[in-house]
Amino acid sequence: MSLSLPETVRIVEVGPRDGLQNETAALDVATRVALIERLADSGLGTIEAGSFVSPRWIPQMADSGQVLTKLQRRPGVRYTALTPNRRGLEDAMAAGADEVAVFAAASEAFSQHNINCSIAESVERFREVCELASAAGLPVRGYVSCVLGCPYQGTVSESAVYDVTRRLLDLGCYEVSLGDTIGVGTAGRVESLLSDGLQQIPSEWLAVHFHDTYGQALANVLMALQCGVRSIDSSVAGLGGCPYAPGASGNVATEDVVYLLDGLGLRHGVDLEQLRATGDWICGQLGRKNRSRVANALAAAQH
Ligand code: HMG
Ligand code: MG
Repeated sequence: MSLSLPETVRIVEVGPRDGLQNETAALDVATRVALIERLADSGLGTIEAGSFVSPRWIPQMADSGQVLTKLQRRPGVRYTALTPNRRGLEDAMAAGADEVAVFAAASEAFSQHNINCSIAESVERFREVCELASAAGLPVRGYVSCVLGCPYQGTVSESAVYDVTRRLLDLGCYEVSLGDTIGVGTAGRVESLLSDGLQQIPSEWLAVHFHDTYGQALANVLMALQCGVRSIDSSVAGLGGCPYAPGASGNVATEDVVYLLDGLGLRHGVDLEQLRATGDWICGQLGRKNRSRVANALAAAQH
């Protein structure tokens, strides 16, 4: 049987944002900068470097402006940031973000918990963000959380997912990343969600963002690739979670995605050994275990 897969895959590294925002230890600016620089050195072309949200809500992302301004930028790498409103966008632009992201949800309850407003209100806030970003020539990415389930309301319909996805695309987002925020999805549900979505939306406009709570994220990545999606979010060492999704674990580990892509012969541009060393290093800084199965297997093989 031959698999229908894209030749090249774009990895969006979200560890410095989605990963660090959920760690109990808040890292200092210098360590966050070093992490991003090391990730860029390993070949990652898009790195979510921070988040311009309320530091009361997410203290770990305070000083994202300093992180972005202190970075030694590697040519060709896009350093991106989350921006929930006009203020976040202005701060991100002042810090030199190459791209920003707005983040909505397919569940009303999650929207209220995460950004303190309804889905419709969030889209109105994002309209202003997208207009200002577009006037400044800045690309905007969209996120939709809870595409396969919500920690507060449970089931989420596919029509709710694509309703908000369409609204973000209509605002000018060049791509929308579909987030399984609590990592409950399985490959069958991913196939169902994407085959529905891809009848309405070109695959180039969709990305996937899988948390690994139930250990399904890598299988879900493979299913998304087979459905034609070629933009995959992941987090070095599987760092991450979401502060408003209790019990959710980190994103699929970037090392595991790279190993999968290597096995399939798909291009991605990342040096696995350099990435593994960076994952081990950041876990040392955080005092936690590396959650990448591939990183742990490679480390064991070297002893
Ligand atoms: P709000 O309370 O509705 O808005 O918060 P507000 O305008 O009344 O502001 C409240 C406070 O925040 C004020 O300060 C503002 O100055 C400040 P205070 O008077 O309390 O000292 N503020 C800001 N500060 C810095 N930067 C800003 C900013 N805006 C307001 N841009 C708000 C609305 C969105 C700001 C708030 O709810 C918030 O920051 N939420 C955090 C949301 C978040 O970061 N969640 C995690 C990321 S999303 C995620 O992880 C999911 C994803 O990974 C995909 C997936 O897995 O599903 C993307
Ligand atoms: Mg996430």
